[in-house]
Amino acid sequence: MNGSRSFNWNTGSPHPKWILMAVLLAGTIASCNRTPDEPEITADSTPYQLVFPAHVTPPILPADNPLTQAKVELGRMLFHETALSGDETMSCATCHLQSAGFSDTARFSIGIQGLPGHRQAMAVSNMAWNSNRFF
Ligand code: HEC
Repeated sequence: MNGSRSFNWNTGSPHPKWILMAVLLAGTIASCNRTPDEPEITADSTPYQLVFPAHVTPPILPADNPLTQAKVELGRMLFHETALSGDETMSCATCHLQSAGFSDTARFSIGIQGLPGHRQAMAVSNMAWNSNRFF
């Protein structure tokens, strides 16, 4: 009756396309196994030293997710990554300009495809101390 059914409730057998998918997936996973001479990829756990004045209370950071140089670098890369936008033309840094204190110089920020916004990208700095977001 319904052509999109993938499981035959009468026989209990999966549709042949799912069997094929399972075989292909198993083959893909098997081919992804690392050969002994390939280096193991591990995350660099070098701690990142957050520098701030002595009179400032330290930010509350999750104990099970310590700051590392690699994570900070990943965050910086993601902040500049245009692939995160709908048409891959904008990154966070497009609106939150580092040269303008991570805010926008335009009164109203413009979105992808020139779509007009109704607000200005606010400064995003010292967010480690921010327990709430504006929105
Ligand atoms: C098209 C422009 C635009 C882009 C791109 C953009 N933002 Fe924003 N952002 C804004 C605007 C506008 C606001 C203010 C929202 C409001 O006033 O309601 C804002 C607010 C914020 C806030 C809130 C700050 C606070 O104090 O609460 C954070 C955090 C933030 N943006 C992070 C990001 C990150 C991370 C990215 C990328 C993943 C990003 N933004 C991409 C325009 C943008």
